[in-house]
Amino acid sequence: MDQPPIPAAAWDAAIDLRLPGRDSAAVIRTLRARAAAARYKDIGFPAAIDIDYTPVLDVFRELYNNVGDALASTPQGFAHTVELERQVVHWFADLFGLPAGDRWGYVTTGGTEANQAALLTARRRFPDALVYFSHAAHYSIEKITDILGVATNVVLVDEDARGEMDYGHLHQLVTRHRDRPAIVVATAGTTMCEAVDDTTRIQQILDDCGITQRFIHVDAALAGTALAIDGLLQLGPDSPVNSVATSGHKFYGTPVSCGVVLMADSARLARGRHVAYTATLDTTIAGSRSGQAAVLLWHAINEYGVDGHRHRAAAARAVAEYAVHRLTMIGWPAWRHERAFTVVLATPPAAVLERGWNLSRDGARSHLITMPGITMDQVDAFVADLAEVLERSTVVPRQRRRPELVWRAAVNGEDSLLAQ
Ligand SMILES: Cc1ncc(COP(=O)(O)O)c(C=O)c1O
Repeated sequence: MDQPPIPAAAWDAAIDLRLPGRDSAAVIRTLRARAAAARYKDIGFPAAIDIDYTPVLDVFRELYNNVGDALASTPQGFAHTVELERQVVHWFADLFGLPAGDRWGYVTTGGTEANQAALLTARRRFPDALVYFSHAAHYSIEKITDILGVATNVVLVDEDARGEMDYGHLHQLVTRHRDRPAIVVATAGTTMCEAVDDTTRIQQILDDCGITQRFIHVDAALAGTALAIDGLLQLGPDSPVNSVATSGHKFYGTPVSCGVVLMADSARLARGRHVAYTATLDTTIAGSRSGQAAVLLWHAINEYGVDGHRHRAAAARAVAEYAVHRLTMIGWPAWRHERAFTVVLATPPAAVLERGWNLSRDGARSHLITMPGITMDQVDAFVADLAEVLERSTVVPRQRRRPELVWRAAVNGEDSLLAQ
C-alpha cells in the first residue's frame, strides 16, 4: 500500500503484445495486477467490489446471445440466457413497484443504453416535446437527445449548489413553454454529488403549468436500487415516474458493464417488429445482447435478495458517513446527501492525489464514493494521507483555519485556492 506506484511506462511495456515472449494469459495477468495494485486507492468511481462473481464465470466460456425482447420473445436454440434475464427484469420490476400485468424492460449494455431506450419511448410518445434536464444530468442524456434527433428541443435547467435540480428555474422554463409537451429527465444520484431530483415536485410543476402531455424519466444509474429498496423511487400507476434506467456495474459491481431499463408496458407505442431469422421481437436498442450480463445480475439478485442488498446499501452509507466525519475532524470540508454513497469534498492538494488516490475531480470539488466493499480502513488511509500533506504544507493550513473559504472555492470551481 505504501510502496511507490509502478510507473505507467512499466505497465505499458508489460502489456505490449508486440514484445517477444508475450502471450495473452501473461498480458491479462499483468492487467489484473495493475488493476489490483490500484484498487485500494480507487475510491472515486462508483463500482461495488464486494460481490463474488466467480461461481458464474464459467458462462464466459461460450457465446450467450439474448437477442430480442427479453419478456416477449426467446431466441432460437439454447445459446442464450433469456430465462434468467426475464427473472432479472421481473425482480427489478417488483422492486420498483411495476404491476405484474404491465411491465417492460431488459438488460442493457449500461446506463446509457437504458436511458436511450427510455427516452426513445418518450420521444415516440411526444415527438414535439421539449426535453428538460439539469446541468447536473449525466453527459449521456445530452448525447442521447442528439442521437434521437431532438437536441434542438433541449431545455437546460439550473442545478443548486448541492447538485439538485433548481425547481424554481424549472417552473419558469415550463411556464414559458406551456404550449409544448414535456419530457423531463430527473436524476437519482447525480454523477458529482449523488443528488436526487424530486419527481413529486417536478410533477407538481407540470400540473401547475397544465402540461398533460408529459413523460418523466429517472436516470437512476447509480442510486436506483438503494432508493427503490427504501421505497423512495417507484414506477407504477401511483408514481409520477414513467421510466427508470439503472446500472448493473455500479451498485452490483458486475464485472461486465450492464444496466436495466424499466417502464410500464402500456407506456410504449411501438411493440417491435418480428424478425424472422432470429425468431424474436426487435424492441431493444442493441440487437445482439450479452447473455452473460443477465447471468451476472441474476447471480447478484439470487445470492443477496432484497434484504441482502438493503444491508449492503446501509453498510456502504455508514462508511460514507464515517468518511464525512473523519474529513470534517481534520478540518477538511466534506458533506454528503442523506442517503448517498458519495462524499463531496474540496479537491485535496495535488500531493495527496500524487500518492495514488483516485478521486473523481471536477475543478475545486471532488468526490469519493464508498460503494459496497470500500472499507473504513481505506477511508482512514486516505484521511491520514491528507492530514499528513496538510501538516507539511505552508499554504493549506491557512485554508484549514478558514474552511468556509475552501468550501466556497469548491462550490464556485475556483481551482487556484486548492491546487497547491
Ligand atoms: C447518473 C448516470 N447516468 C448514466 C450513466 C451512464 O452509464 P454507463 O456509463 O453505464 O453507460 C452514469 C455513469 O456513470 C451515471 O452516473
